[in-house]
Amino acid sequence: MKFRTLSYILFVSLFAILSCNSTKTVVDRNSAKSSVSIKVDSVLKLMTLEEKIGQMNQYNGFWDVTGPSPKEGQAAGKYANLKKGLVGAMLNVKGVKEIRAIQKIAVEETRLHIPLLFGFDVIHGYKTISPIPLAEAASWDLEAIRNSAAMAAEEASAVGLNWTFAPMVDISRDARWGRVMEGAGEDPYLGSKIAYARIKGFQGDDLSSVKSIAACAKHFAGYAFAEAGRDYNSVDVSEATLQNIILPPFKACVDADVKTFMNSFNDLNGTPATGNAYLQRKILKGDWGFNGFVVSDWGSINEMIAHGYAKDSKEAATIAANAGSDMDMESYSYLENLATLVKEGKVKESLVDEAVRRILTVKFELGLFDNPYKYCDEVREKETVGKAAFQEGVLDVAKKSIVLLKNGGNLLPLAKSGLRIGLIGALAADKTSPLGSWRIGADDNTAVSVWEGLQKYKGNQVNYAKGADLTVGQTKFVSELHLNTTDRSGFQEAIDLAKSSDVVIMVLGEHGLQTGEGRSRTDLGLPGLQQELLEEVFKVNKKIVLVLNNGRPLALPWAADTIPAIVEAWQLGTQSGNAIAQVLYGDYNPSGKLPMTFPRNVGQVPIYYNYKNTGRPTMNEPESVFWSHYSDSSNKPLYPFGFGLSYSKFEYSNLKLSAGTLTKAGTLDVTVTVKNSGQVKGKEVVQLYIRDLVGSTTRPVKELKGFEMIELAPKEEKTVHFTIDEKMLQFYTANGKWEAESGDFKVFVGGNSADTLESNFKLQ
Ligand code: BGC
Repeated sequence: MKFRTLSYILFVSLFAILSCNSTKTVVDRNSAKSSVSIKVDSVLKLMTLEEKIGQMNQYNGFWDVTGPSPKEGQAAGKYANLKKGLVGAMLNVKGVKEIRAIQKIAVEETRLHIPLLFGFDVIHGYKTISPIPLAEAASWDLEAIRNSAAMAAEEASAVGLNWTFAPMVDISRDARWGRVMEGAGEDPYLGSKIAYARIKGFQGDDLSSVKSIAACAKHFAGYAFAEAGRDYNSVDVSEATLQNIILPPFKACVDADVKTFMNSFNDLNGTPATGNAYLQRKILKGDWGFNGFVVSDWGSINEMIAHGYAKDSKEAATIAANAGSDMDMESYSYLENLATLVKEGKVKESLVDEAVRRILTVKFELGLFDNPYKYCDEVREKETVGKAAFQEGVLDVAKKSIVLLKNGGNLLPLAKSGLRIGLIGALAADKTSPLGSWRIGADDNTAVSVWEGLQKYKGNQVNYAKGADLTVGQTKFVSELHLNTTDRSGFQEAIDLAKSSDVVIMVLGEHGLQTGEGRSRTDLGLPGLQQELLEEVFKVNKKIVLVLNNGRPLALPWAADTIPAIVEAWQLGTQSGNAIAQVLYGDYNPSGKLPMTFPRNVGQVPIYYNYKNTGRPTMNEPESVFWSHYSDSSNKPLYPFGFGLSYSKFEYSNLKLSAGTLTKAGTLDVTVTVKNSGQVKGKEVVQLYIRDLVGSTTRPVKELKGFEMIELAPKEEKTVHFTIDEKMLQFYTANGKWEAESGDFKVFVGGNSADTLESNFKLQ
């Protein structure tokens, strides 16, 4: 093998002798683990302090790595440090050729030949793009979600990457925050199941497989609770909210054996997450026994200076290293300061060793020491990227992610022939926005637009009018996305088209880059002129199907009251238009359920189904003002968590519990009958919620505790079973422990969080 220098071969042989386990046979997990730790220790012994600190350093790659080596500026410094073995990982280098070029420097030119990790934000696909994660969460289909992550890992691994900065498992209750699109929504139970599925998808059953990459649970922790939904803002939450709501999905990632964590930009109750020993050392590495490594978020070590928590970069490095941040992404602070800090006794060398051990372990587990170029195969890259099976896979999950919000007069599904369809809205022809935010490996204009998707159905005539742009001009700069257009010159064409159409499909919502990092909004309506356009078109044709493309819950009370049919189609990725067309025509019967509450107006936010009852939940006298409500809006959401219709009709009856009392060691059986009283076969997500009526801390009015997806033919009915046990009732109590408290509980089962059948039991 050409790439291996003599010393590298000697080095690798040493590990082979130590482990006798270089083949891919199935081995006992513990012995495999200990053999890795022997190898890691043997490497660690060879390293100087500087080389160890180098492993804790991650650089963004931005120069042309296949061109001449950079001679000046920051790139030259990074390049020089690479050669000295002072870099453990890179990010944003992509493509086999590029990654091979950099890996070659690490493996062939540094003293110890330690291979690099290559991280990238493969958030919902690399080049073949799946629905945004929030949309996928709406599928409630864990197998489809796992498969989507597995496809993303296979494609990303084929371009040389071995580490994704995903999944984001931040529970989010505030639709103003732009990053809600990256997560699984508002519920810790659903969020935990999805987090687990995504980790398993990215990492596979065998991390050393060439199709698996290391995953990263982020952002640890509390980031989504940024005050007022403003990105990077402070987070102040109670210990109960931290434990019961924010942390469970992170714990699920550890249970799924996630290899890395990323901390977060925010301060949490006064301590920046990056410098938070309680989070990283006590909870993550202590209580949960996480044995992977923690990477900082971009520059977040030095951001502790702006937070007012460290006076300079040296102090920031001290705080971060002591608090358990193992790798520094783009602050350069470890490289600059850690050696001095160790010499001054401010950071113990044993902590540096521990961090490096964690990082090297992941490299070994990925198989990079066996073959640092294992992901660098041009032939595989060519055969894999964008392959047909991925297109089918992302189409499958895209269909499953669509949520039918309203279907007045059974306007949907559309007849397949004889219709003149007027298609209106800039987003209807947009081939970029459906890719959503965080799809940096994909090219613009590569999504199937709704217009293209509809054209595959030849029986109807489809005519298109844009109506109005979303924003002014092109969207080169994100800042321009806030500049709404005032150009109404296309309105008349859209109105004329609507007049001459049997049915109008309006595709409205957000530009793909109006959500994501740094894109918080204070208004949750349709940006720009879209609301006005919708109302103008409605004046001439009432038969409107509103297809929403958006990355966050929107507040659309007028549309919800007025427009007969509404389809929540998010940003569905590469196959977006095909998925939407199949749903509109009934070739796929919608089965998605909202993973986040949709508000009536932005003033209700944060709004979520698992709220606390308060001391004044309601007042009997109609004129009373002294209860927890708004004087200008209902408390109720526009659409509740878990909501979604189908072309079938599901009826719930016969909710039964096997007993009225549950003992701590026992179980209770919950059964419910679900019948499809509609005309077509369909899928339904049956949801189980529980309420703990009295607690040592106040408890939510409902908490999701189980769900099951069933499929029913017309007139078919099924009995769905759930089992309740004591563990399911545990929460972080006033004792500071996870435990269940005896007392009365309510059980709810239904097709969403608001419309449920109800029963009750006692825990003894
Ligand atoms: C984001 C992370 C991301 C990182 C690297 C940061 O700005 O917060 O989620 O993984 O950049 O791109």
